[in-house]
Amino acid sequence: MSDAAAESLGPLHDYVEYDHAADSFLDDVLEGLALPQKKLSSKYFYDERGSKLFDDICELPEYYPTRTETGLLRAHATEFAELIGPNASVVEFGSGSSTKIRILLDALETPAAYIPVDISRDHLLESAKLLADAYPDLPVVPIAADYTQPFELPEIAGGEARIGFFPGSTIGNCTRSAAVDFLRAAATDLGTDNGLLIGVDLRKDMRILHAAYNDAAGVTADFNLNVLRRVNDELGGDFNLDAFTHDARWIADQGRIEMHLVSDWDQDVRIDGHSFNFVAGESIHTEDSHKYDVEEFHALAAKAGWRAFRHWTDADNLFSLHYLRVA
Ligand code: AVI
Repeated sequence: MSDAAAESLGPLHDYVEYDHAADSFLDDVLEGLALPQKKLSSKYFYDERGSKLFDDICELPEYYPTRTETGLLRAHATEFAELIGPNASVVEFGSGSSTKIRILLDALETPAAYIPVDISRDHLLESAKLLADAYPDLPVVPIAADYTQPFELPEIAGGEARIGFFPGSTIGNCTRSAAVDFLRAAATDLGTDNGLLIGVDLRKDMRILHAAYNDAAGVTADFNLNVLRRVNDELGGDFNLDAFTHDARWIADQGRIEMHLVSDWDQDVRIDGHSFNFVAGESIHTEDSHKYDVEEFHALAAKAGWRAFRHWTDADNLFSLHYLRVA
């Protein structure tokens, strides 16, 4: 990193960046669009614009997960602090705007450090700086990385427990087997005697789910289309954004919402010298959002070496928070 870049990081002097935060977008797009069911990974939603659109989704009346989880975090913050103990360092996987962590940091006794990990470098640094300003005594060590890929956690002087924080039901965006892989890797990274506080969206009436992912204001549609905008801006693609329609469907036998972008008519799209044909009604599958019930999630966590220690749900049984310990 140049001296100027290091200086602009201010208090975030221990910032670490992994290559996988930036690479392989083109390869992944070319590979995904060549599949019989065309696919683009949901991790590519999150450039600066996509991260802001996601923040807007979190404020939507139909999108219950954020406000429900925030309510649970507020209601039980003292309990988490007791479970976690003093001088813990907290690693947040997929930290985004680092909003919910404040509830936990405010409750914890003398936290040793906050380590936000996120693929969207600029959004990560901006959020980490705001957090460092708000908590001047707290070391903030951002890591720009795809947290599903290997990366190393820093040693924190004076840190006792190392706690993972994975809110928002982001685990739901992994397939069930990738969720086990992620949880297993997190157990190894965090080490024995440590814990993970994780938010998991629950199975529920499909009408609630449908509304949450097909909001009336069209913000989720814009978020979904953002991946095509990125392909155009960053890879020289020529997607016509007016020729694809957002669609989010509940797939009952998989227990998940799938987001798709559906081609409105027959068309060809060119990206970096490659051509992709779409027939009318053909879709690109852009995201899975798996929903669990509590027992199902505990069984999945157990496969990855975690013991369900305590969990909390809201009165309407919309969302769950789990404190897991390495078994
Ligand atoms: C980040 N993730 C948990 C969100 C979800 O609900 O699956 C992303 C999202 N997609 C559409 N709306 C929100």
